[in-house]
Order: sequence, then structure tokens, then C-alpha cells
Amino acid sequence: MNRHRTILLIALLFFTTITYAANWQREQLLSTRNTSLMLTAGQDEALKFAYYGDRIDESECNNIHEAWVGLNRDAYPTFGSTCIYSQAMQATHCDGNMTLDLVVKNVERKATDRGEILSITLQDKLYPYQVIVNYESLYDEDIIENWVEISHNEKKAVTLNRFDSSYMPIRKGNVWISHLHGAWSAESWLTAEPLEHGILEIRNTDGARNGHFNRPEVMFSLDGKPTENSGRVIGAVLCWSGNYSLRIDTDKNNAHNFFAGMCNEASQYILEPKEIFVTPRVAYTYSDRGIGGASRNYHKWARNGMVHNATTQRDILLNSWEGVYLDVNEKEMEQMMSDFAAMGGELFVMDDGWFGNKYPRSKDNSSLGDWVVDNQKLPNGLSHLINTAQNKGIKFGIWIEPESTNSISELFEKHPDWTLQVKGRAPHYGRGGTQLLLDMTNPAVQDFVFGVVDNLLTQHPDISYIKWDANVELFNYGSTYLPRNKQSHIYIEYHRGLVNVLKRIRDKYPNVVIQACGGGGGRISYGVMPYFDEFWVSDNTDALQRIYMQWATSYFYPSIAMAQHVSASPNHQTGRSIPLKFRFDVAMTGRLGMELQPKDMTDEERSFSTNAIAQYKVIRPIVQLGNQYRLVSPFDNRGIASLMYVNDDASQAVFFAYKTQHFVNMNVERIRLDGLDADKYYTIREFNIAPGEKPCHLDGKTFKGRLLMNVGIEVALDKEYASRVLLLEESK
Ligand code: GLA
Repeated sequence: MNRHRTILLIALLFFTTITYAANWQREQLLSTRNTSLMLTAGQDEALKFAYYGDRIDESECNNIHEAWVGLNRDAYPTFGSTCIYSQAMQATHCDGNMTLDLVVKNVERKATDRGEILSITLQDKLYPYQVIVNYESLYDEDIIENWVEISHNEKKAVTLNRFDSSYMPIRKGNVWISHLHGAWSAESWLTAEPLEHGILEIRNTDGARNGHFNRPEVMFSLDGKPTENSGRVIGAVLCWSGNYSLRIDTDKNNAHNFFAGMCNEASQYILEPKEIFVTPRVAYTYSDRGIGGASRNYHKWARNGMVHNATTQRDILLNSWEGVYLDVNEKEMEQMMSDFAAMGGELFVMDDGWFGNKYPRSKDNSSLGDWVVDNQKLPNGLSHLINTAQNKGIKFGIWIEPESTNSISELFEKHPDWTLQVKGRAPHYGRGGTQLLLDMTNPAVQDFVFGVVDNLLTQHPDISYIKWDANVELFNYGSTYLPRNKQSHIYIEYHRGLVNVLKRIRDKYPNVVIQACGGGGGRISYGVMPYFDEFWVSDNTDALQRIYMQWATSYFYPSIAMAQHVSASPNHQTGRSIPLKFRFDVAMTGRLGMELQPKDMTDEERSFSTNAIAQYKVIRPIVQLGNQYRLVSPFDNRGIASLMYVNDDASQAVFFAYKTQHFVNMNVERIRLDGLDADKYYTIREFNIAPGEKPCHLDGKTFKGRLLMNVGIEVALDKEYASRVLLLEESK
């Protein structure tokens, strides 16, 4: 090669490198309407987290480095050279090496209808191992979703030992965390606590559902004890329905290190060359309007797709469960439909107990999987019931639990290999002492589960609602389908299988309303809610406890997704007797329903219910589609709880208040409203007035929004279980 040509080649190489390096900016800023995330993505350097919070513009990127040097952390920390800290990822390469050292190789930005996707490709310095870190901004919702895609080109499989979706450092200060936890029939208890030194892990290892115990959703209040309408808040939601781990590792320096992803316990993932492992997404939001502001961002995000069809108002339904339990029979189903239609109801749902021929479902120990009508109980079949509903002017819905079977069932006799099981070990049974989970990792089982819904809806296209239950944990950790070396994929593949089936159902049946139930609130999860219209908040229908559960659930979920039913008194779970008005007033803050035997009601109760249902129809658009403002928390033990909904143009609002404790001469504080237009005038009308009572002193009065919000209203709550519903309408 002569000298001239060598110079040319060097120049060309240099030029190529320069062009390549100049392809992206070092500071990557991703913004929504009110928030920004900033990363430093220098070529061949580690990707660095720089900032998340209030919206900034490009010109301020330098200021972030100049003024806030504190959080110079890797944006996706991996185990290897710097192995003393907590990590988001740890992998074993095909040659046994356990380290990673990832650097930035490419940055891409792609505009979408709703924002932008920022994808940063990280490559290991030594191995052909790659992680794409993605951030998607949703401009209107003020949400940034974060997830990673892992792949490699090594000679043999790599083992992923830890594979979090996301990492975010939060600057230490007076930071509090709010999180939800509970148990069956006591879901969604709220805890707010300051973050101290050490590791706080929030996780769930039920295997099948992840909504009962700890929930994969947290809020960080950056300015001390959480408040509803002030202070800076970062929210984080993991969109995954299986086992997960959220870890907050408060280090000795200056950060609370937040990691979120699938739980890695018993879940090492064997990643084949060229296979792409996509983690679930973590949805972050930021608000300087307190916990309430962050919640409203999540509600908007839910309405815009994360809850199925969440811009369509929901029907008022009667569910048969607490009315007849498993004693379903044609006569009573007809009678319940008649009674409910007469009260103004819109949909009847026949719960558990309708199926099984060889093994009729008379107890909870048989028949799951045998989705054929029990001819003894329902001699004229489903078509007859659906016709009856239609003749009464209401819709018809039905209960299934398609992921499960019982050892006493025809399905189990035919396909014993379809259950999760460990060869040579006696099965561990769930509910009824016989319940087993189907192996959703198996495509044949996925086809069967899809078929349960498909058959029902093909044979009975007029079924308009399905309650999809899931009453058992993932016991018996073994799959006859997965190969020996991939048994550790069960927890993950189960939920991938479930989501596959749900997607197929939604492709074919976009309009049928489907409720996610998991033995109560087990399936409250953004991992599956894009395919479900609503979820059952809890098997506990006690109105007093529901105030707490619904309050906490609304931290992350919108009212339209929350199924809330008026049940009998005394309540079947707590034994508590509560007036019907209070029960309605509590259920009316979400998707209203009833769950009792109407024939056991007195005439007065029926007529009160008829009126309450009519009144709910008036406020339904505001409750189900409006913006929620929580006013007084039941968790603050101030003797009352209060919340309200306001429509988008703030011309209408509905206000709810409840007495949660009652003592003689106790002070009931003035309640300040929120979300109204300060300059508008609102006329108040009391709704759902208790039998024999007169409207309260506020009825018919007109007030300026500013006064209602700054001074507040005195609400007459003078008895045990007193409650008030007020409609506020703009007066012009
Ligand atoms: C679960 C559900 C209940 C009811 C029963 C039926 O517990 O949460 O609402 O459907 O199953 O068996």
C-alpha cells in the first residue's frame, strides 16, 4: 500500500468513527408534559443515570451535572467488577465467568403516537452479550416506562441469575415509601414508612397471582411523610403478574437504590444464543402534587390502555356468589334476575357452581375444568338463562376458573399430565383439598384455556361478561412440558403463557367484559389488566373495611376498574351490621354491583336499592371517568374518610364522606374539597338520602370553588355509619 492510500484509509477510518460517535448526544433527555429523565450515554462508557423529576429542558442538562453531582450511578448496574453493591443483573457466561461490564454502543430514539422510545444498546466489553435498556415516555400521562431486552451470541446458553427490569437511584433525604400489603380478605392495607438504612424487599412468591400479599407498586415521597396534595412523589409500578421483587437498598453514601423485576428465586433463566429475553416494564411517574397527583397520572395511564376498555362505562351488576354460593339452580337464577332487573340493574353474573356433569360442582372440591352445564341444576341450559336475562332487559355473565382443575374432574382423568406436578412426589393440593393448577407453560394447555372462553362465547355469543377466577397458589414446582434444564422457567413461563392466552382472547373478543379475580384481589396486577376490564377488589365485602381497601387500591388503579358490591348485613366475612345506605355509598365510589339474594331483602330495602341504583346512574360518568381526589384518609384515624371525583372540565363533581369511628361529641373536622375550578360556582345536591331523612344543610346551596377548596364544608356525620354523597354542579 503506498503512503497516499494509507493516509486516505486512516482519514476514512477516523471520519467513520467521528460520524459514528456523533450519531447521538451524550446527554439523553426524555421528557413528558411535566417530567424529565436524563441519562449520560457516552460511547464505550457505562450508561449513567443523571436525573428524574420535574421537567427540564436541553439547556439545563449541564446544570444537572454542575449542581447535583451526588447521583453519578450506572443506570443499569451489573455484577462483575464493582460487585460490592446491589445489582440489577447477574449472569453466568457459557464458560462459567460470572461477570459483566457493559458499555454504550448505540442510542436510538423513535417517536411514537404518545411520546418517544429511547433505546440504549449496552455491550459487554469481553463477551458477545448485549442489553438494550429501553425507556418509553407517555407524554400526556407523565409516565416513563423502563425495561430491558437481553440477548447474546455466545457458543452455548448463558444463565441469567438476576435480571431486573429497572433500576433507579433516589437521592437520600427525608424519603418515605408507601406500599400495599395484606392477605386474603384483607387485601390492600397501606403502610407509609421512612426509608432507613438496610434493604427493604417487597416481593411476592405466590407463583400464580401477585395481588393478595405485597403488591408490586410503590410511591416514594421525597419531602417527608406522604401527603395527598403536596410534596414531590415518584411512583413505580411493575407490570408483571408473577413472582417479583422490589428492593430498596439504602446505601452508606447518598442513595436509596431501587430495583424492580421478576423474582429470581428458583427462576434462573437459561438464555439460548440469539434468544431475546424481554423483561416486564416498570412504569414510573413523578408529581409535585403529592400522592394524589401521582395516582391521577396512573389512573390516566390505566384509562389509556393499561386497563382494557377503560373509557367505556360499566354496567351495574348482581353477582350470585354471596346470595346462593354453590347452590346455583335455575329457579333462583331466574328469580335473582327478575328481582335485580326490577331494581334497575343491568347485568346478572352467575358465579361458581353452574358446571360439571359426571362430577357436579356441589362443593369446592371438584369439577374445575369440566366447563359444561350441570343438567340437574340448570335443566334448560345456559341459553335459557341468557334468554331470561334478555327478556328482563338485562345482560348475562358467567364465572370460570380456567387455569385450574380438581383431582375430582373429567379433565384431570383425561389429562393428568396437564397439571403442574413433580414426578414421584404426592401432589400438594389447594382449595377443597383437590385443586391443582394447570401447566400454563404448555401450549396444549394454553389452547385448552383459550378454548374454555372461546367455546362459551361461540356457543353463547350473548354472554357479555366473564368473571375469570384464580383460587390457587402455584404449588408442585414441576412441568411435564418444560425440559429438565428449564424447570427453573416455570414461574416465568406460566405468566407468559397466561398473557398469550389473554391476548388471543382479546384479539377475538375485544368487547366482552372480563373481570380478573384471584380468590378476591389476587389478580390486581398491571401485568394482566390490559386484558381485563376490572378486578374484584376483595372477597371481603364489609363496607367499613372496604373503605380502607378501596382507598389504598386507588393509589394505583382507577375507580372504573374496581368492582365494589353491596352485600347482606350482617356481613358474611366480618359479621358486622351496617346500614344499607352506607353500604351503597361505599360501593358507589367504583364499579357498583350487588352480591346478595334479593329475595331476602325487605320491601324498604328493595325500594332504597332501586333509588340508589337510579342515582348511581346519574353520577356514574363522573365516578367512573372522572378524576379522583382523596380528601381525608381512613388510615389517618380521624374518625372520617372522604374522597371525591371531578369531571374533566370541572363542571361536575361527586363528594363522598363516611364516619369510620363514632363517639359522642366527637369533633368532625371541616373537609376541604379539591380538583374544582376555583372561579366556578357550584350548587350542591345531596344524593342517596337515608330513608326517612331530610337532605342535609348543604343541599341546594351554591358556593364558589375557591371557598369549597380553601375553607371546606361542614358535613353532617352525626351517627355511627353516617355517610353523605353530594353532587356538585356548576351553576352559571
Ligand atoms: C373466589 C372468588 C369469589 C367467588 C368464589 C367462587 O373466592 O373470589 O368471589 O367467585 O371464588 O368459588
